[in-house]
Amino acid sequence: MKRLPMSALRRAPDIALDGPWEFRLLPYEQEWKRVEVPDLWTMREKADPPHYLNIAMPFDEVPPAVPDRNPTGVYRRTVDLTPPAGRRMILHVGAAEGHLSVTVNGHAVGTSTDSHLAAEFDITSVVTPGSNTIELEVAKWSEASYLEDQDHWWQSGLSRPVFLYTVPEVHLADVTVVADYAAGRGNLHVSVATAGLDHLHEVAWTARITMLGRTQTRTVTPRSVEPAFTPPLTDRSQRPAPSGIPDDFMDLLSMRAADAPIAAELRPVAEHVMPSREKAGTAVFTLDALEVSPWTAETPHLEDLLVELISPENEIVDVARLRIGFRRVRIEGRDLLVNGKRVLIQGVNRHDVDPRTGRIVSRDLMLAELSLLKRFNVNAIRTSHYPNDPDFLDLCDEIGFYVIDEADIEGHAFTTTLAHDQRYLPEFVERVSRMVLRDRNHPCVIIWSLGNETGYGPNHDAAAAWGRRVDPGRPLHYEGAIAHDWHAGHAASDLVCPMYPSFEALAAFSADPRADRPVIVCEYAYSQGNSTGGLAEYWRLFETLPSLQGGFIWEFKDHALDPDGDGRYRYGGDFGDEPNDGITLLNGVVFPDLTPKPALYEARGLFSPIRITSGAEEAKAGTLRIRNRQTFAGLDAYELRLQVETEAGPAGALTLAAPPAAPGAETAIELPDSIRALLGTALALTVAVHTRQHAVWAPADTEISAHQITMPRPLPRLPRGTGTTPAEVRHPLLRRAPQLSLWRALTDNDQSFALDNRFVRTGFFHLTPIDVRADGAATTIRYRAAFGDEVVHTRTLTVLDEGDYLLDEQVTLPDIGADGLRVGMEFELADGFDQARWVGLGPWENYPDRRASALLAAWERPIDELAVPYLKPQENGTRGEVTELRLSGPAGTVRTVHATPLHMNVSRYSASELETAGHWWELQPSGTTVVHLDIAHRGVGTGLLGPDTRPAHRLSQRDYRWQWRLTLSAAG
Ligand code: GAL
Repeated sequence: MKRLPMSALRRAPDIALDGPWEFRLLPYEQEWKRVEVPDLWTMREKADPPHYLNIAMPFDEVPPAVPDRNPTGVYRRTVDLTPPAGRRMILHVGAAEGHLSVTVNGHAVGTSTDSHLAAEFDITSVVTPGSNTIELEVAKWSEASYLEDQDHWWQSGLSRPVFLYTVPEVHLADVTVVADYAAGRGNLHVSVATAGLDHLHEVAWTARITMLGRTQTRTVTPRSVEPAFTPPLTDRSQRPAPSGIPDDFMDLLSMRAADAPIAAELRPVAEHVMPSREKAGTAVFTLDALEVSPWTAETPHLEDLLVELISPENEIVDVARLRIGFRRVRIEGRDLLVNGKRVLIQGVNRHDVDPRTGRIVSRDLMLAELSLLKRFNVNAIRTSHYPNDPDFLDLCDEIGFYVIDEADIEGHAFTTTLAHDQRYLPEFVERVSRMVLRDRNHPCVIIWSLGNETGYGPNHDAAAAWGRRVDPGRPLHYEGAIAHDWHAGHAASDLVCPMYPSFEALAAFSADPRADRPVIVCEYAYSQGNSTGGLAEYWRLFETLPSLQGGFIWEFKDHALDPDGDGRYRYGGDFGDEPNDGITLLNGVVFPDLTPKPALYEARGLFSPIRITSGAEEAKAGTLRIRNRQTFAGLDAYELRLQVETEAGPAGALTLAAPPAAPGAETAIELPDSIRALLGTALALTVAVHTRQHAVWAPADTEISAHQITMPRPLPRLPRGTGTTPAEVRHPLLRRAPQLSLWRALTDNDQSFALDNRFVRTGFFHLTPIDVRADGAATTIRYRAAFGDEVVHTRTLTVLDEGDYLLDEQVTLPDIGADGLRVGMEFELADGFDQARWVGLGPWENYPDRRASALLAAWERPIDELAVPYLKPQENGTRGEVTELRLSGPAGTVRTVHATPLHMNVSRYSASELETAGHWWELQPSGTTVVHLDIAHRGVGTGLLGPDTRPAHRLSQRDYRWQWRLTLSAAG
């Protein structure tokens, strides 16, 4: 018995087998224990914990050798059955991570290896009435493990549901739907495959489809009968009777194939000599010119399709119900088109990961994730790097996402060999083909991916050829095919789909006359730790340069695990897993619990359905112009919340229905006088976009983006310093007085191998004052950095009449510091501060190269909420363009005002505390307040894997000069 062929049909369980099973983990334990399926034993067995490795395999063997030490989980349970007469019983194993061997009542039933697709087995002949024992043995390693070397945790067990269902002896085996959309009409092609009839020469069975009130019935095609000819007589003594075979018969085959003219009298014979090409056991249907609304990610319109199999006795013996969407995906020239229009791919890469269960992902979690992504205007998902649960694609169909469906092939540790290794050829083709056969009816799937990071070889081309033949309606994606040459790899990739390209590479390729395919970047905006700098620059290119159509952020979610649910998120090495790749899997735009990181807010604004296209002058004159960024939908689903931001807070709030605007078109809104009147002294006009209707992914009135027109900024004027001139700033509220700071807790990007060296070489992590000189109100401190370079800081300090300090700062860096991390002042407050109010960019963390979506306003937040708890602590929580900061609490109030906008950071921890902690949860709760006010702060970039912070967002000067005022008022 073997694994059944893959099909697009979804069968409901007749007997669910999720729940208690007996389990033992060989060779570690012989005793059986009870576990709950779905189950990944790695999440609970100390003997074989999760193991995180990106590229290397966790053992030394080479393909196809299987390591001797091979943890094997045996799942066993009994089930009482009354096998129904005349029906076949199928065992469905949703996903077995490892090599699965199925035994039922002691009979070996079959095996399977691909870990992220279901395996089904027909167990009719081995089940008996009464109690039956099912044993699912999952061996962690097999020769197929080399194809599942994705960058995530190695986990083992049964990660999706297990169940039994029955089907009639003659049943629907598969239904293939091509729901094309062109010229405003839907064209439906349905092929129904049956099981149990394809051996018959005559079939009296029919299949029927019903859609939109139209019904078609077709007879199931029998096995075709090849013409039989009586052999010539061996007895040549008599003249044979005429056979009826025309003299030109031998030529007819080729004449017909060549479409050569065939004499009229031969035509009936020609039909006969080349019988029908229709597959035995199938029925094919076509419904043309249907009046349907098309499916797109913006307008995910679905229709019901009913398929019935009808016996000669006119009984409906089997039924399939499908939700289908009409759409056409094509590449024309260098554009990927959906329903004839060029779409922009605002995507993320998504892995199956749940911090509590490892990789057992419930439907609720999938819905929560997709709802979150939809609310943040993400419109596409790459199922990196394997097919997801079928429910996931149902949800994408319904909510509206474009999906790149990726085959479960990553041979990262053996990229130079596996794709050329003929022993692995069947696995390549099978993994791709199973995915295609399972998922081809989903409108959301617009592109097939042949896998990830497995080099490039003939095994890919073979899989590609299979895919092109079976599903010509979808383009293919494979990064390996173009990795070394964006002009190559056409056999396996219809897209140029690079990873982490530089801005320059994209611009140059867009302009290259030799380029002939659309560019959809399969991974970019690498988001490990405090990162994702430059997203707006990517989008400037995607929205303006020909053939660039967006891409997929790496990645959606941090993979940290929390098996005990105690909030102590773990990464590579935390389970004693050696060797490991540490924090390389903390690269999501959301935390493991789905809390969005500031990077996702940046994406939300850039991906918004609207963009503001007018400026301050026009707003003052009463006009606001917006563009509908969408490709298919109007703006009627949204309303706009307008509000004027002033230093004193928001004013003039007003809600307007979004004005009509065709996709891509611009529209003007007349601003009411009540708003105009406020703009003169305002910081900005905020336009928040809210949904109007309830949707599965968000209740009505959900904010999906906020945009601004910023007004010419009334910068604070500081008084001339005419008061007394003390030597230093001293106050009971100050635990440490303001002093020069040039260092930040290195981000993961800062620590990339290219950058770390550079920043460490500045020595700015350690400044030692070597000389202090006072000259009137000015004090000059010469510092020596760790490796001897000199930094000079001169401060002119004045106490104003009110007792406030006026600080005039001047900093000169050595040559080596021009591209440093920060230039600014750091001070620490006494305990007793808990609230922050600032006038500047917010509300979320922002950096010079990641603030296209940040909003200028007066913001107020508890100090504890300013931090972004990157799981591996690092620089976080900075906000730019700040002209005023007020910190308050039981201890009193501290206020700073800046004549030049500064970057502010208010934190419970110092840079060195952040830098030395391995996990956020290791940081001790702290009541202290460390304040940084920087005249310059380096962007965050994506330097770990992708472009560094662009020069415009780096430090570029050697000399900095600025002025600020400090007010310290103790309580009481
Ligand atoms: C890519 C790879 C991803 C992930 C990422 C680094 O090369 O496709 O799976 O490993 O790098 O986090």
